[in-house]
Amino acid sequence: MSMNTVAEFAAELKKSPETLLEQLQAAGVQKTSSADALSEPDKQKLLAYLQASHGTAAAGKKITLVKKSTTEIKQADATGKARTIQVEVRKKRTFVKRDEVEAGEAPEAAAAPSPEDQELARREEEARRQAELIRRQEEDLAVERSERQAREQREREAEERAQAYLAQQAEKKAQESAERKEAKDQAVAEAVARAAAQEEARAKAEAESKARAAEEAARAKDLDERRRKALAEAEAIRAMMAAPKKVLVAKKPEEPKPAAAADAKKGTLHKPATTPGAAGARAGAPAAAGAGAGANKEVKSAKLSSSWANDGAKKKEIKTRGDSSGGVGRSNWRGGPKGRRGNDRDDQRQHQQAPVEARVLEVHVPETITVAELAHKMAIKATEVIKALMKMGQMVTINQPLDQDTAMILVEEMGHKAIVAALDDPEAFTAEEVSSQQAEALARAPVVTVMGHVDHGKTSLLDYIRRSKVAPGEAGGITQHIGAYHVDTPRGMVTFLDTPGHEAFTAMRARGAKATDIVILVCAADDGVMPQTKEAIKHAKAAGVPIVVAITKADKHEANPDRVKQELVAEQVVPEEYGGDSPFVAVSSKTGMGIDDLLEQVLLQAEVLELKAPVDAMAKGLVIEAQLDKGRGPVATVLVQTGTLKVGDIVLAGQTFGRVRAMVDENGKVAKSAGPSIPVEIQGLSEVPQAGDEFMVLSDERRAREIATYRAGKFRNTKLAKQQAAKMENVFAEMQAGEVQNLPIIIKADVQGSQEALAASLLKLSTDEVRVQLVYAGVGGISESDVNLAIASKALIIGFNVRADANARKHAEANDVQLNYYNIIYDAVDELKAAMSGMLAPEQREEALGTAEIRNVFVATKIGTIAGSYITSGQVTRNCKFRLLRDNIVIYTGEVESVRRLKDDVKEVKEGFECGIKLRNYTDIKEGDQLELFEIKEIARTL
Ligand code: GTP
Ligand code: MG
Repeated sequence: MSMNTVAEFAAELKKSPETLLEQLQAAGVQKTSSADALSEPDKQKLLAYLQASHGTAAAGKKITLVKKSTTEIKQADATGKARTIQVEVRKKRTFVKRDEVEAGEAPEAAAAPSPEDQELARREEEARRQAELIRRQEEDLAVERSERQAREQREREAEERAQAYLAQQAEKKAQESAERKEAKDQAVAEAVARAAAQEEARAKAEAESKARAAEEAARAKDLDERRRKALAEAEAIRAMMAAPKKVLVAKKPEEPKPAAAADAKKGTLHKPATTPGAAGARAGAPAAAGAGAGANKEVKSAKLSSSWANDGAKKKEIKTRGDSSGGVGRSNWRGGPKGRRGNDRDDQRQHQQAPVEARVLEVHVPETITVAELAHKMAIKATEVIKALMKMGQMVTINQPLDQDTAMILVEEMGHKAIVAALDDPEAFTAEEVSSQQAEALARAPVVTVMGHVDHGKTSLLDYIRRSKVAPGEAGGITQHIGAYHVDTPRGMVTFLDTPGHEAFTAMRARGAKATDIVILVCAADDGVMPQTKEAIKHAKAAGVPIVVAITKADKHEANPDRVKQELVAEQVVPEEYGGDSPFVAVSSKTGMGIDDLLEQVLLQAEVLELKAPVDAMAKGLVIEAQLDKGRGPVATVLVQTGTLKVGDIVLAGQTFGRVRAMVDENGKVAKSAGPSIPVEIQGLSEVPQAGDEFMVLSDERRAREIATYRAGKFRNTKLAKQQAAKMENVFAEMQAGEVQNLPIIIKADVQGSQEALAASLLKLSTDEVRVQLVYAGVGGISESDVNLAIASKALIIGFNVRADANARKHAEANDVQLNYYNIIYDAVDELKAAMSGMLAPEQREEALGTAEIRNVFVATKIGTIAGSYITSGQVTRNCKFRLLRDNIVIYTGEVESVRRLKDDVKEVKEGFECGIKLRNYTDIKEGDQLELFEIKEIARTL
């Protein structure tokens, strides 16, 4: 090193020579002038001094250096792997840090995206960690060993000192009691005994130390073994990485070795406990864990395991059965009592992890089902269903009905099997019900429906057959409901259904035809084929039942059976004698002529049909008629079609259900049971069923109620869907859709007289185009059922001097039904007239405005093509219609967009003036074109 002066060195350091001299002196370098020479040792001295006095930064660097030096040592320790990273990690001893570093320096792991590769990388890392951990343990062991040696040395020295002291004391004592020899002897003996005891203790300590050394050796050996295995595992993993991935997939995840760290000392235990990543790798080193493991350590190891357990299952999968420790049984590599505990935990975990088998239910989904019901069917909480529906974008409430499609999608979504189900599906019957329906079928009486035009003698004919007198007792002499009678004839029993012949009862005739086996078509010999005769033929043909023709009133002198025959042939009812299949019998209810023959023909037809039905079965049939009886409640006339209906049976009829309380036959006689083809009147239903409803007996009242409720709900739903009725202002729009314009009305009035008058006046408003249809007229306040009727029939409710009761008002409000109140009859008529005027399509009339001649065509950049025109007659207005004529041929019809006069937009320009006319969406104009200007006016028509 070169020598230089203090001044030169000061210049080099950019300091004044004085300061440098002071510092040099403080550092113990004796220099007095700036010209003194400075040697290299002098400079070193100065540097040391400066660092010692305020060089904290330098001290920090030094610590870093110390760390680095440690790193180097560890690097040498990393056998085979020789990764600098490992060294650093070791030093820092925070695995998070090390992970980061490793992640940064292990691009091959990061670059491998597939799960298998990732797992392999993870395993390799684990193995590495394990090796490192073992290294660390070894190191700890070394530290521990040296510490113990030092301690033992200290202990030995202390013992020696104590011995020397004791000997001294004993000697002193001996000297003190020199006079007493025995005492001295005793003291000497004591000292000797003590010395012997001490010697013994020392020997014991030595033995202990030896044992510890042996233990240490064993542990070291064990560590060696573990390291070897870890390395082998790492090797195996590497091999696996190279091998096809299929092999890896086959590996099954296994438990980590939890007790591996058990023999690590207390001071080192916390480290593995905070290093979850090491868990799996550790598992790969089957250790003689039981060796020297005390109860205390077991506890620790348990803690350790629990911390591992918390560190996530992923790590546990690292250990594979096929690793290099090959075929080591679980019980083998888990020593002592820990193995048992491990197994327990293992069992527990397996129990936790065992997948719960999903129960796939078959969910019958009816046409509508509420959220709550659906949840119940799937055995989950309604909130789950609501949640699932929310995910599907539907916000529903618990009681909201879902349609079948939505419900089925939801059921499938929940992993169950959705089955389309109607609650009254025969499939839904119980086994008992099914078996009862399969009872032996026995011959049954034919059901014969009598149909024909009004007053052609149907009821009279039946009366004669039954030898009773129904017809004279009927109001107005006409039948207004289906009558059902069963008659024992000499040739067997026959059940007759009498239908009304009036045109209003089409539905009843249709029902009659549906329920029947044979139709007696009644046609009066004096009247011939009439509209309802034709209708009856249609119904019979639609039902596909044989027809027996009864030509009634044959006793009358104006009777002409042949004419009737001709007319019926024209209607495709061909008599047997003409080669057809319908027997024709001329009868008279007055004289009884031909009636036996008629019955014979009917029974013949029945024989051909071979009618049979199970008798000993649960009854099924049709509701023929039903009404609300003041004393008896809902009463229904039912025709049993199969099985036997008994008092006490649970009956489901349409939307109603109930237990049969009492049963009477058509003659008012109490009946206990009714077999096939027998009509009876039953009491006990909850509500009045609809005529035409099917009824059936069920074994379970709850189910009957359910189905009835379901049907009622469904009916309500369809009703709600249809409700659009009963608003004056809507009437016109409503009617526009259909060709036939009908205005149904419901009239409620205070007294019979005004009700009649109002009905008559309103009905008179009917025209060819709009027909006023009186759905119902009655006296009294507007009730809830009136509102229901209005909803069902889309009728207007007219209240004359009456108001709706609270329930009806609520119901009307809920269903958006308008209630129209009047107290002057003419107001009602006028208003209805106005509403109906709206129904008539307004007349569109063209009104000529004027004509113009195009004299010039301008094209303005901003506006477009403008027709420079002269108004030859009338006027042109903004937005009026035009017809463009060229050589008197219409070439375009459109609308005027704007009219301009001298650059101003104007509303209109009158005859004799020139103006610019801009035509909307039209530019093909020429000079000399004519414009016909007009307006379309809509004229509302009045009646
Ligand atoms: P609806 O049930 O209203 O369709 O009438 P319907 O077909 O039942 O006729 P109904 O039996 O009520 O008879 C109508 C009228 O015809 C009654 O006045 C009977 O007396 C009369 N009548 C029915 N049958 C005969 C008959 O065979 N001969 C004569 N002379 N009159 C008859
Ligand atoms: Mg009748």
